[in-house]
Amino acid sequence: MDKNIEQIKKEALKELKAASDPESIKTLSVRYLGRKGLVTQFLRSISSLPQEKRADAGKKANEVKKLLDTAFKKALKALEATPAESDDRIDVSLPGRVVKRGSLHPITQITQEICDIFSRLGFDIAEGPEVETDYYNFEALNIPKNHPARDMQDTFYISKNIVLRTHTSPTQPRIMEKRKPPLRVIAPGKVYRCDSDLTHTPMFQQVEGFLVDKESSFGDLKGILATFIHKIFDDQTKLRFRPSFFPFTEPSAEIDIGCVMCRGKGCRVCSQTGWLEIIGAGMVHPALFENVGYDTRLYTGFAFGMGIERIAMLKYGIDDIRKFYENDLRFLKQF
Ligand code: PHE
Repeated sequence: MDKNIEQIKKEALKELKAASDPESIKTLSVRYLGRKGLVTQFLRSISSLPQEKRADAGKKANEVKKLLDTAFKKALKALEATPAESDDRIDVSLPGRVVKRGSLHPITQITQEICDIFSRLGFDIAEGPEVETDYYNFEALNIPKNHPARDMQDTFYISKNIVLRTHTSPTQPRIMEKRKPPLRVIAPGKVYRCDSDLTHTPMFQQVEGFLVDKESSFGDLKGILATFIHKIFDDQTKLRFRPSFFPFTEPSAEIDIGCVMCRGKGCRVCSQTGWLEIIGAGMVHPALFENVGYDTRLYTGFAFGMGIERIAMLKYGIDDIRKFYENDLRFLKQF
């Protein structure tokens, strides 16, 4: 009988060693320690032993029972603490992972809004390359080498004749070369200048617009820009044209709007002037038409360009342009 319980113990421990998942350990526990388990049966059979053997056999069997019970429990606990790689059951009680939804960048939203307004005025949307030749960025726009106007724009040079475009104006000669008038085009995109502070980032975005036709006047330019400004801000927004200079427009103007922050009373944003400069514009210079092969006796046109971040800053009341490019979700989520 003694031998028998020793054997049961040995077999149980051997089987336990081979068990690799909680289920089989539980089955083992039932097989040995359950109501009809091998150890239990052995304990029951003790009563039929001769009197003098009972005490010793009972003691041994109870020891084995205790030992196996702790061994099974210990093995179960170990498996639960480090779930086996093979344990691929799904815990349905785990909370789900929230999918974070992205949204359009505020600059993208404003660009789309600007393009929408001009599309409704009959403008096509086009694009040009950000890596541009010196010819289209400067030369074709009537900005010859050594012209002081080149200093206005701190250019990033890639090589002697290749630059990162400093404005979207090169889309003018590029598109004019490819198409014949009448033309109405709006061209948004990224531009680059070596400049960085509260109101400048080395990369920013502009929208270029231009129209070429047999009869187009400064009055048309004024009408189009007034319509645009009243749509993108509101129809109470005042605007004024100031004479200015660009090599590729003549005459040239800068367009100010009444400060949207203080409504013209004067504040920090408008440096107490009540006005904010937002658009550069003018009648297309005949030199540009000559460069693209248009007959200057037949055609006139106007062009304008504006910074998209600046419009977004004024529309949303943002005072630091760099916020657009820091990708702080707390900022971006507000739009
Ligand atoms: N390209 C000019 C700038 O970046 C803006 C402009 C565009 C002026 C078209 C006149 C006509 O400042």
